[in-house]
Order: sequence, then C-alpha cells, then structure tokens
Amino acid sequence: MSQAPETSLQDIVSHAKEYGFVFPSSEIYDGLQAVYDYGQNGVELKNNLKSVWWKAMTQLNDNVVGIDSAIFMHPLIWKASGHVDGFNDPMIDNKDSKKRYRADQLLEAKAEQYAHEGNAQKAQELLNEMGRLLGANDLDAVRNLIIAEDIKCPVSNTLNWTEVRQFNLMFSTQIGSVAEDSTQIYLRPETAQGIFVNFLNVQKSGRMKVPFGIAQIGKAFRNEIVAKQFIFRMREFEQMEMQFFVRPSTEMSWYEQWRDTRLKFHKAVGLPAEKLKFHIHEKLAHYANAAVDIEYQFPFGFREIEGIHSRTDFDLKSHQEYAKKKQQYFDNDLDENGKPFGNYIPYVVETSVGADRLFLAVFCNAFTKETTGEGETLKERTYLKLHPALAPYKAAILPITKKDGLPEKAREIEKMLKTEFRVFYEEKDAIGKRYTRQDLIGTPFCIAIDHQTLEDDTVTIRHRDTTQQERVHVSELRAKIGYEVSEQRILELI
Ligand code: GAP
Repeated sequence: MSQAPETSLQDIVSHAKEYGFVFPSSEIYDGLQAVYDYGQNGVELKNNLKSVWWKAMTQLNDNVVGIDSAIFMHPLIWKASGHVDGFNDPMIDNKDSKKRYRADQLLEAKAEQYAHEGNAQKAQELLNEMGRLLGANDLDAVRNLIIAEDIKCPVSNTLNWTEVRQFNLMFSTQIGSVAEDSTQIYLRPETAQGIFVNFLNVQKSGRMKVPFGIAQIGKAFRNEIVAKQFIFRMREFEQMEMQFFVRPSTEMSWYEQWRDTRLKFHKAVGLPAEKLKFHIHEKLAHYANAAVDIEYQFPFGFREIEGIHSRTDFDLKSHQEYAKKKQQYFDNDLDENGKPFGNYIPYVVETSVGADRLFLAVFCNAFTKETTGEGETLKERTYLKLHPALAPYKAAILPITKKDGLPEKAREIEKMLKTEFRVFYEEKDAIGKRYTRQDLIGTPFCIAIDHQTLEDDTVTIRHRDTTQQERVHVSELRAKIGYEVSEQRILELI
C-alpha cells in the first residue's frame, strides 16, 4: 500500500463540497466571496469539534465556565478595545487591473520568495523594514518599498499602484428603527470582548475566585481584504475563545500552562505532532506581553490555527475607563506577609482558536488517498481518517440484501445503537459501494447484517482505516464501538 501524491487544497475543496461538508455560500447566485456554508456532514464534524472544545474547557477545568454573549454590543466597547482606531489592514490597489491587495502580504510574499531562493537574510531584512514602516504607520514608505522591490500586480503585471490606505476590518450596521434615532454599531470582530464586559457579572453571580476562566463559542466578522484559501480566512467565521483571569505577575506561568494544554488538545483531536508547531511573536501587540500561535501544516504551508496571548490588564482597564465602572476584583487570599492581596484588575491569558480553521486542519489531516496493488489490480481508495469521536456518523448499519428479514433485523440494531451515537442506515447498492460511500465521509465502522446474523445474532464490523473485518455478537456492539467513538477518548488525552 502506498500513499498517493501530496494533497492539494483543491482536493480538499472538492471533497468537502461533493460529500456535504462545506459549500460556497449563495452558490446558485455565483457565491459570496469568503463566505461558506456547512453541509449535512460538515455541521456534524464542526459541532463535534465545538463540543469537545467546550468540554475540554468547562468540564475538565472546574474554574472555567462558559457564556454566550450577543453579537451586537455597545459601540464604545470597540473604541475601548482599540478596534475602531487600530483594527486595520494596509491595502493597495493596482490601477490597471483594479485588483486590491494587502500591502503587507505583497511584501511577505516577496520575502518568502527570497527565502525560497536561499537568501534568508534578505528575506528577514525586508520583513524587518516592513514591520518598522507599518509600526510607524508610514504608508507612503510602504508603497515605495513595494515599488523598490519591483513587486508587480500578478494580474496586470504592472507597478501602477495607488497609495496605501488603512482599511478597518469591522463591519458596521445601524441599530434603531428611524434613521435619526439610529446608532452605528459593529458586528463583533472577536468574541473576547463579550467575555471582558461580563467579567464581573460572571465573577459575582458564580462566586468565582481568581484564577478563573470564561469560555465562549460564537460568530465573529471581519471584512478581510484578501480572502482566499477556502475556509482558512473568511468574512464570517466562528471563534472558540477563553479568557483566563489571573493575579498580576502570575500571568507568565498561566500563559505557559495554557500554551501547553492547548497543544495537547490539538494532538488529542488527531493532528500529528510533526504537523504542529509554536510560532512565538517577537513583535507584540500593544496590549500583550507574550503571544504565541499554534500553527498547523496545511497544504499551503504552516499557518496559525490558534493564538495564545498574555493580554495584561489592557482590556479590563480600558473598559473601566470608557464605561466608568470599576472592573476590580477583591482578592482576600493572603500574600507572603499575611495581608490580603486586596483590590486589583486581573491580568488575562487568552486562548483563541477558529472553529473553521480547526475544522480545516482536521479535514486536511483526515483526507487520505491510498493505492494498493499494481497494473490491473491497482486500486485507489479515498477516505477520511477522522478521529471516530469527530466523524459525522459513528457507524453505518448495512443489511447485505433487502429481503429475507435482514432489513428488519438491521433496523432493530439501528434502534439499539442510535440512542447512544449517530448511525447511518442504508439498504441500497452492493455492500462494497456502500463501504466506499462511508469511507468518503469518514464513518469509522460499518456493520453488515447477513443471513448468519439471523441464525447466531452476530454481525460483521468493517473498520474504515484497515478495511479489516471481524465477527462480533450483537450484544457486544455497544461496548465495542461505544468507547471508540466517545469524546471521552479525546478528553482523556488533554
Ligand atoms: N481574540 C483574539 C483574536 O481574535 P486573532 O488571532 O485575530 O485573535 C484568533 O484570531 C483565531 O481566530 C485565529 O487563530 C483563527 O483561528 C481565527 N480567525 C481569525 N480570523 C479569521 C478569519 N478571517 N477566518 C477564519 N478564522 C479566523
């Protein structure tokens, strides 16, 4: 058996569409750029990922609780968080092709090209210069650098660039019924702020003691200028974020702890260690004193799936100023001098993972093409090697014929299993074809019901990854499959 050639992103996009995982949004109207819909299998996989993340946060940690805050929030929140003034991407247009690009991405691509050609130093110098100019908001100089580096528009092949402008990524809309009364509000660009502004509500109503965390899963919106690479960068996406509130000066050890726990999570859902790495931020956002990304090796290279940030007390302090409401916590634990720690604004360690990016990583990793035999016996098999607990269906129930009482027996087995996990029932077509269809959507077990089943109450279980079959008694099915497909198997590894 051999592994087929490298998977391309196009293989992933096609498979996701053909087998009901991800569809382009509004497809019959020719789509809407960077917006996607999850299909009947995709929504199951995504829900399973969200469920396991939720439990890893709120069930495995007795000091982490969840909330579900609204997408619409008071507009001042985004002023306080820095998003109104600073959540920008530098964009540039080519006057000939009328195409728009992110100036930083054009320069990064050039640096990547230098690195590829073996000129790592030149690549680094270019990135440093870009960082310096963007940090100083010297947009004219960024444009000059693009021209000096001879970076042409890939479409028109010209250097006919507009000036560089900052483009705010937040979507805005109006709230209120009459035009005069309406207020401009934003679709949240991160779920984190919904947690910050509920910090005291949760702390007081839940009698939480620092250190404690608040977790949330929800939609976020960003008007990304360059949105490509499928669901990697979308305009409407979902985040799974957790803000962990700690005593000032203890944040670095919590940051390290959460960084390691989050890496364990990604391995536990089946991402291989060699395809995961940390990328430490050298240049930090103004509110952070440490930041690291967990990157996964996608078909288009290592890219961020999760960020772990030590955000200091920036957000709570800023909300205290803008809202004019104290955001302090009274800590009555005693310090080394026997005095209570007293009032302070907690520091925050954040873990933030995109549900869609995690989905894409897990999907890319699961997509497997194998060839067996040679010449006339050459066979190709494609299947999704998903962790059984994440698969849309855990088992398929397949009577080998539609007659002789086999469907009735199969329905009995379906009834017995479906209260525990999700099963798929099918009678149509040859059994081999049905196995193939289940492989393509990642069903880990196929249960075949044949004439022998009627005699001795045994069935065949066919295993997706090995294609091996074993005969088991019907009474053993729940025990045999139940644990294999349980979230417990993932949670035990974290
Ligand atoms: N609260 C911190 C925050 O939002 P971020 O690095 O901007 O930090 C966190 O985003 C995570 O959200 C990323 O690691 C990524 O997984 C996901 N994410 C961000 N922008 C995204 C987009 N346009 N499409 C899909 N996922 C995105």
